[in-house]
Amino acid sequence: MRSEGFAPAAAEVDGADGFAAQIVAWQQTHGRSTLPWQNTRDPYRVWLSEVMLQQTQVSTVLGYFARFLARFPDVRALAEAGEDEVFGLWSGLGYYSRARNMHRCAQDVVARFAGEFPRTAVELTTLPGIGRSTAAAIAAFCFGERVAILDGNVKRVLTRVLGFGGDLASSAQERALWDRATELLPPDGQRADIARYTQGVMDLGATVCLSRKPSCMLCPVSPMCVALRDDEPERYPVKTRKLRRTAQSLWMLEADDGQGRVWLEKRPARGIWAGLYCLPVFDSREALLDTLQAAERKTVLDAPAFLHVLTHKDLHLHPVQVNAGGRALGEQGGWFAPDDWSALGLPAPVRKLLLALSSRPAPGAA
Ligand code: ADE
Repeated sequence: MRSEGFAPAAAEVDGADGFAAQIVAWQQTHGRSTLPWQNTRDPYRVWLSEVMLQQTQVSTVLGYFARFLARFPDVRALAEAGEDEVFGLWSGLGYYSRARNMHRCAQDVVARFAGEFPRTAVELTTLPGIGRSTAAAIAAFCFGERVAILDGNVKRVLTRVLGFGGDLASSAQERALWDRATELLPPDGQRADIARYTQGVMDLGATVCLSRKPSCMLCPVSPMCVALRDDEPERYPVKTRKLRRTAQSLWMLEADDGQGRVWLEKRPARGIWAGLYCLPVFDSREALLDTLQAAERKTVLDAPAFLHVLTHKDLHLHPVQVNAGGRALGEQGGWFAPDDWSALGLPAPVRKLLLALSSRPAPGAA
């Protein structure tokens, strides 16, 4: 039978041989156990790793995690840092709102909780950048709280095992899945297992229950999986896209001082790429040219436009190269040499442009 939100009777997936027990046993032998944010109950480390892992894969996070910890060994050190330094260390990980929220969160932990992360998922969600699933991961790993996580990987595992066909674009269906996720947790008597269960269900989603061609032969819960029984694991999770995408064109001034330095300015605290260092951005080519002097206009070179895709928006970016001879182009920015670039928080397309620029002769140069 197939129906929206259909799930097998709860008895099929709980009980001593049920879902949670299988996941815990599997994690012990097949799950990941040597990642640097495991084998610790330090909420600072767990929080740092969970935020970094939200949109980035483990292999990339490893280096960033080590560098962050080396520079900011505890939450107070991070709270006291300047925003530019935090963005600089985040540089290349993308989705900078995570870094901004992380910095604010550290400051909140110090100001509101005397430098100690709160110990319950409910309190953790009152902090910037900590949503329900991240809060649950911290509370489960560090404090053994019996709370469910539901990140993208876990949604895939649970919807398949349960045959949960509800559309997760609907908040009512999403809430229903949260309820099911909570029911599947190890029962109260086994609270000590909650950390291993939490890691296990994440590991299963990341290594076995893949979106395409899942390795059902290796899955400890395949005997109870509705999606496998019906031979359609790839049908789950169901989520109709609701995102309405927009498009925007921007012109970016790639001003060179003739000696390889580029003019960058810090973006305003709100709006696109808030707080990052960026090439000056304009809504039209005319607006960009208006800021240039007559001699500079003679050096203008229109580089090929390219597409940069944001979550909600397609950006059509038009780089315009100019030799500005080192004159200050505004009050908010400065000239930055290639050696300075790696330590700056830069939007990904700007980083790409600068890398390409550093391997080309400056416009107007002999
Ligand atoms: N992704 C999110 N959290 C994770 C964790 N604790 N270990 C591995 N991958 C993860």
